[in-house]
Amino acid sequence: MQWVPMNDLGRALTAERDQLLAAFTGTLDSGWLVQGPEHAAFEDALAQYVGADQAVGVASGTDALELALRASMPAGRRTVLTAANCGGYTTTAARRAGFEVRYADIDEATLLLDPAAAAKALDDTVGVVVVTHLYGRAADVSAFRELAHPLGAVVLEDCAQALGARLDAGRVGSLGDIAAFSFYPTKNLGALGDGGAVATSLPDIAARVRTLRQYGWHGKYTIGEDGGRNSRLDELQAAILRGRLPALDAGNARRRDIIGAYAARASAGVRVLPAEGPSHAGHLAVVRTPRRDALRDHLAAQGIRTDVHYPIPDHRQPAFRGEYADLHLPVTEAAADQILSVPVFPELTDSEVERVCDALGSF
Ligand SMILES: Cc1ncc(COP(=O)(O)O)c(C=O)c1O
Repeated sequence: MQWVPMNDLGRALTAERDQLLAAFTGTLDSGWLVQGPEHAAFEDALAQYVGADQAVGVASGTDALELALRASMPAGRRTVLTAANCGGYTTTAARRAGFEVRYADIDEATLLLDPAAAAKALDDTVGVVVVTHLYGRAADVSAFRELAHPLGAVVLEDCAQALGARLDAGRVGSLGDIAAFSFYPTKNLGALGDGGAVATSLPDIAARVRTLRQYGWHGKYTIGEDGGRNSRLDELQAAILRGRLPALDAGNARRRDIIGAYAARASAGVRVLPAEGPSHAGHLAVVRTPRRDALRDHLAAQGIRTDVHYPIPDHRQPAFRGEYADLHLPVTEAAADQILSVPVFPELTDSEVERVCDALGSF
């Protein structure tokens, strides 16, 4: 049986071969391998695309979250407030920075952090509220700014899944105080390996991220800031990302169209999370049903690969056993048992999309 894959990176690599080779030869010819002209040009292009004053390249999305948290955590505070259904990346980054993580429940309809739940969990010990634009859907960041700012907290957007999504107020990454991006190969804008970035229009915070990503140096061999590390975006990856950026919007539109086709054809018992319009980047096609495992078996029988994003909420991860035993997040926990991701990526063929539609419609 020919499976419909969750992703097939080889298709884009083949289609973009000449463009990718040009990025390779351009980098070779330049002689720059880190923090050269391509890196600077990509930072500028990303900042301009997002609508932020500055973008800072780093080595991964998790590093972007960690450095953004370290750079923006207000003095005297150590707590991060976020949702528990976003794959554990913010949790990993915050714990690595030595911060405590507090969780609030998600909204039943969007599966994004619920402003009302966040309001209840927020107090003046929280320094950063991390809002994840999960699955590609732009969250209403202004609601969190209105909650956080009066208490002296900042809002960090996790844009790893949503680059390109926009609200009336602007693109994700320009809506909060600081934002983190991942260029992991399966992301809507993917590198040929790991990569990430931080964007912000707050100059002091951008400067801190630039310092922290390179050993905490204020100048060469002068450690001016404690807590620094080595987290750089390679010159070659920057060249590849800059080459791919102009095609991002078209790829996102194709993703939304595919998810729209699933929504139109799925049977009544399967709810396809909507991905309509520019406020969604179509990163993941997520369906919800109380009979998740049966649907998964049904799709597998039709040769369709699936995945769950994400099966274990952060507060139930085995590594933190006991720490959050008393915390119950009913909407988060119920969703984790009912969600299923089906294939979506721009190079999916029309006949593959049709097979997924048929399978979702015959359940
Ligand atoms: C929502 C979200 N945040 C952060 C990350 C972390 O990015 P990276 O894998 O580049 O560290 C990812 C994906 O991997 C993600 O999906």
